[in-house]
Amino acid sequence: MWAPAILALLLYTPLAQAFSAPSSVLNSVSKIGILTSGGDCPSLNACIRAILKTAETRDVEVFGLPRGFPGIIEDPPAIFKLDASYASAAMLTKGGSRLGGSVGSDYKLIDSLSLDEKASRISAALSELEIDGIIATGGDTSMDLIAQMLQYATGNIPFIGIPKSIDNDIPSTIYSIGFQSAVATAAKSIAAVRDTAESHRRVIVVECMGRNAGFLTLHSGIAGGADTILLPEFPVDNTQLLKHVEEVYKKHECAVVVVSEAIRLSSNSGKTSKYTTADGKTRLGGSAEAVARFLSESLGLDARHVVLGHTQRGGSPNGFDQVMATTLGAHAVNAICEGQSEVMMNWNGRNVEAIPLDEVRDVPSKSLSSDYPELIAAQSMGIYCGST
Ligand code: F6P
Repeated sequence: MWAPAILALLLYTPLAQAFSAPSSVLNSVSKIGILTSGGDCPSLNACIRAILKTAETRDVEVFGLPRGFPGIIEDPPAIFKLDASYASAAMLTKGGSRLGGSVGSDYKLIDSLSLDEKASRISAALSELEIDGIIATGGDTSMDLIAQMLQYATGNIPFIGIPKSIDNDIPSTIYSIGFQSAVATAAKSIAAVRDTAESHRRVIVVECMGRNAGFLTLHSGIAGGADTILLPEFPVDNTQLLKHVEEVYKKHECAVVVVSEAIRLSSNSGKTSKYTTADGKTRLGGSAEAVARFLSESLGLDARHVVLGHTQRGGSPNGFDQVMATTLGAHAVNAICEGQSEVMMNWNGRNVEAIPLDEVRDVPSKSLSSDYPELIAAQSMGIYCGST
């Protein structure tokens, strides 16, 4: 998504102070635009389907904004009316997002336009089609930036956000859509790695995504049967790690270590492993390789590493996410039709609630604390999870 570009523009322009939003908008809604912002994840299509099907029951038309705002600001805008295929049952199981995510040329276009040029293209495209409400899936930052941009571009078009993230780090949420599916995918790979680790009497280190939050790594490690789980929130004590892996190895003649992409390694001066891509982007990655090398050199064991990477973002969603994405999508349409705006639909473990975006804005992302029940469970079973 073009969040960093908008963020930079918003932060460094006095116009940012002009953003303020009403908590409820009374206009009736007859045409909704949907976009899937940020990285993709399983169950976005299930969510789109639920939005379309719910909107149909209310005689509301639904338009897709391909690749997020970039699809609107290009000339001509690529907005299109969703056809019946978007309401088909096949959407429940299709991975990725049929509306797509941003690509390299989108960033170039974004960088080439001023904030006002972007705002005027967004406003023109939406008013041309008479779109009078927007629903977006996204992380907390991208949802907030979209809401702010819409306010800036259109005045007060109603906006509803739906939390999605395989990292599960969105404030105020228990789970965001996509997380449970990513856990299921990663857990399957971790279990598969144990088969080969056993055969070859190896240590295998598996790297999970999740940015600076350890939820994906912890849940995947538990579900996949990991012996050791290293998380970004808790420092790794090398002596304890080596002792633990050695003991596991003595017992089972293999070990499966699951690490988050953002753990801080003393072999890397306490920093996370990062690299820069050819187009200048900084990416997390390399922690599994570094841990495998450290274990191999320190313990004299054969240690290999696997990076699960984008496999965790793809594939069919599991049942939990199919239901949660459907539920939040349907409630988002109900909320926008009932006059709500600037809210994020949230499943709180019992009900679906509409949380004002103001409660999520400028709040630090969620991260693991040492009293997180799943973490305590892992430690209680003898899994080393770092110094909590
Ligand atoms: O935020 C989701 C996420 O998949 C992170 O877990 C990961 O670090 C990042 O996005 C990868 O981003 P990209 O697809 O741009 O490499």
